[in-house]
Formats: sequence, C-alpha cells, structure tokens
Amino acid sequence: MMYNLLKGKKGIIFGALDENSIAWKTAERVHEEGGQFVLTNAPVAMRMGQINALAEKTGSQIIPADATSEEDLQNLVEQAMEILGGKLDFVLHSIGMSINVRKGKHYTDQNYAWTQKGTDVSAMSFHKTMQTLYKADAMNEWGSIVALTYMAAQRVFPDYNDMADNKAYLESIA
Ligand SMILES: NC(=O)c1ccc[n+]([C@@H]2O[C@H](COP(=O)([O-])OP(=O)(O)OC[C@H]3O[C@@H](n4cnc5c(N)ncnc54)[C@H](O)[C@@H]3O)[C@@H](O)[C@H]2O)c1
Repeated sequence: MMYNLLKGKKGIIFGALDENSIAWKTAERVHEEGGQFVLTNAPVAMRMGQINALAEKTGSQIIPADATSEEDLQNLVEQAMEILGGKLDFVLHSIGMSINVRKGKHYTDQNYAWTQKGTDVSAMSFHKTMQTLYKADAMNEWGSIVALTYMAAQRVFPDYNDMADNKAYLESIA
C-alpha cells in the first residue's frame, strides 16, 4: 500500500549494497512513499554491489563517500542538497563492518588495527556524518537521522565480537 507519507521529503540513504541490505529495502519503500533521496556507499562498494540498479529503479543519484572521510562526507552533504534542491528531512546511516568478524578473529584475540577500523566505520562515522550535517546546517527542523544498532550493545552475544562494542559506541553517540 502506498500513502505518499514521504511526499516532498528529501534525504540521504547510506549503505545499500545489494537487495539483501536493509538500506536497499528502505530505499524502495521511501521511493514508494514519494520521498526523494541520494544514495551513497563507500567507493569500493560501487564495484562490488548493485547500487546502480537501485538508483535506476528509484530515480536517484549516487554520490560515493567513504563514511570515515570528513572530506567525502562534506562533499556528499553539499552535493545532496544541490541535487535535491534544499535541506534534508531524513538521513539513514545503515553502515557496519568488523574486520575481526570477517577474518574470524575471536574477541579474545583481536587485531586492534582492525578493531579501530571497524569502530571508525561502524560507530564514529555516525558522529562524523552528524557533525558534517550540523556544520552545513543541512537538516530541516524536525528532520530525522537514523542509525541501526543491535541488542548485543547491551547483552552478551559472544559471536557478535567487537561489533557489540561498536554498537554500544554508536548508541552512545545517538
Ligand atoms: N542484518 C541484520 O540482521 C542486522 C541486525 C542488526 C543491525 N544491523 C545493522 O544494520 C546496518 C545495515 O546492515 P545490513 O544487514 O544491511 O548489511 P550490509 O552489509 O548490506 O550493509 C552495510 C553497509 O555498510 C557499507 N559500508 C562499509 N564500510 C563503509 C564505509 N567506509 N563507508 C560507507 N559505507 C560503508 C557497506 O558497503 C554496506 O553497504 C548495519 O549497521 C548493521 O550492523 C543489521
């Protein structure tokens, strides 16, 4: 069912890699509800994913940005406002990544360089995104900025590894 709930609303959606991504499904629903947005993902994800298909389907433009790079984020926010013709009503931060998890490193045997990278990508990028939006005065009043967490931030889920710490940090920022 479509209700035009987001007609006239503009935003940025981070993190649509393929159709299994939460951001992908969100973008499809936002489009169905009349919202307009810019899609973004890490430059490396442009090669791996199928984001072009989503952009075509939703009539959106893609602006690559590494969410750990302040310069990329500034460029993203500036360009998004130019493309969408004004300030933003919503931003979805749907980003998470742990190299320790990917490489099967146990929580008790972390590679801390990987831990730091995961923290930057999964948590600090949320602060960087919001700080960039704030400095550019890019959000409309009552706009929404959403990030995705997991209950391992509060409860022990050993296999969630250092992502649990990243989610706790993310929640603290929020
Ligand atoms: N899938 C689940 O069951 C679940 C449960 C709870 C929370 N979450 C959270 O939801 C969010 C989305 O996860 P998903 O399941 O859709 O997985 P996903 O892998 O499809 O999405 C993660 C996205 O982060 C992007 N990304 C990684 N590094 C980046 C960087 N440096 N800059 C910009 N983007 C970068 C990836 O390219 C990818 O598109 C994550 O925060 C995840 O932790 C997922």
